[in-house]
Amino acid sequence: MLGTPQGYRFNPAFEAPGGSAIRELFKYLSRPGMISFAGGYPAPALFDAEGLAAASAEAMSEPLASLQYGATEGTPALREQLAALMARRGASVAAEEIVVMTGSQQGLDLLIRVLLSPGDAVLVERPTYPAALQALRLAGCKLDCVPSDAEGLDIHALARQLDAAPPGHFRLLYCVPDFANPTGACLSLARRLALLALAARHQLLLVEDDPYGALRFNGDPLPSLLALAGQVDGAEGRVVHLSSLSKVVAPGLRIGWMVAPAAIRQRCVIAKQTVDLCTSPISQQIASCYLAGGALERHLPRLRQGYGEKCQRMLDGIAALGGRLQVQAPTGGMFVWGRLADGSDAQRLFEHAIEHNVMFVPGRAFYASGADPASLRLSFAAPSLEQIDEGLRRLARALG
Ligand SMILES: Cc1ncc(COP(=O)(O)O)c(C=O)c1O
Repeated sequence: MLGTPQGYRFNPAFEAPGGSAIRELFKYLSRPGMISFAGGYPAPALFDAEGLAAASAEAMSEPLASLQYGATEGTPALREQLAALMARRGASVAAEEIVVMTGSQQGLDLLIRVLLSPGDAVLVERPTYPAALQALRLAGCKLDCVPSDAEGLDIHALARQLDAAPPGHFRLLYCVPDFANPTGACLSLARRLALLALAARHQLLLVEDDPYGALRFNGDPLPSLLALAGQVDGAEGRVVHLSSLSKVVAPGLRIGWMVAPAAIRQRCVIAKQTVDLCTSPISQQIASCYLAGGALERHLPRLRQGYGEKCQRMLDGIAALGGRLQVQAPTGGMFVWGRLADGSDAQRLFEHAIEHNVMFVPGRAFYASGADPASLRLSFAAPSLEQIDEGLRRLARALG
């Protein structure tokens, strides 16, 4: 709850209930013995503590630069490392085209500041990442949903929406093509190409948010929209790519980045000057040393194996619920998206689940409109294998 106005004048955007529904759930986390499938937190046991300690020691061996303010765009060393990382992911990007962000969430916030005004129409997936919805709502944007299924965004539905709207009506489409939050769905290659073709035809800007793409535990990686844009006539310059070290290294570093056409990037840098001047240079130096030493490439197989095993354990546990929870099996990321087979309200199940000391996120939080109240998101990332087993036994009891 927000405090009473007491004569202050606030931005009216904050008068609507705008707080994060997921962060509201965090109060239950401190209950003794609680098993949480709620947050999208990485597994503490899978942090590369040794690699990060070595990178921190190296970063502090030459502390003077790291203790000073840095360039708003990011340190040259980290931008070089991120360009190399993008090349390993199949996207050829110059270091100068990358702006370091204080978490990729900041990239989204800056894009909204630079590109959008109150009342602008924006396309989002249904369902999608709640903090994106929250940021767009606070900016006063009108949200239009594109349905999605197990292969991600429904391209035919999007084509119909774009055809029906006046040219230029939608200012951008925000999407998470790889192991989306909350659905875990991965947009197929055919749909990626079709999406780029639609963006070219309708001059639509695509904001591709990719914090999870490196966490694939089944199948072959797919090129990002950014990597594919050059292959589709007219699509070049239509993609802004956001990514992050949060899910693969550590969210505490608060290191994300943006790759965007120059006109957008330069304006985002100006906006970032007013937000935080620069991303923490110490964090950037640690990240840069970590990447330069090859630690991420060495660590990724362990992450993929660890999350793959946890995901399978969760799917096995859900199968043992006897069909009461229908889910999509993801091939990467951190989330299993499900639906209560009897169509009952996941919020009610949440209230029972809390009594049994297990929690998840009821699906409503992920919808801009047209919520399916029976949907819910379970994250397998942070709990141990034993906690996944026990948490699902508790969920079975909560289901009754
Ligand atoms: C889709 C998506 N985008 C962005 C973020 C935020 O990432 P960061 O920690 O880099 O700000 C998250 C975190 O959960 C996410 O799920």
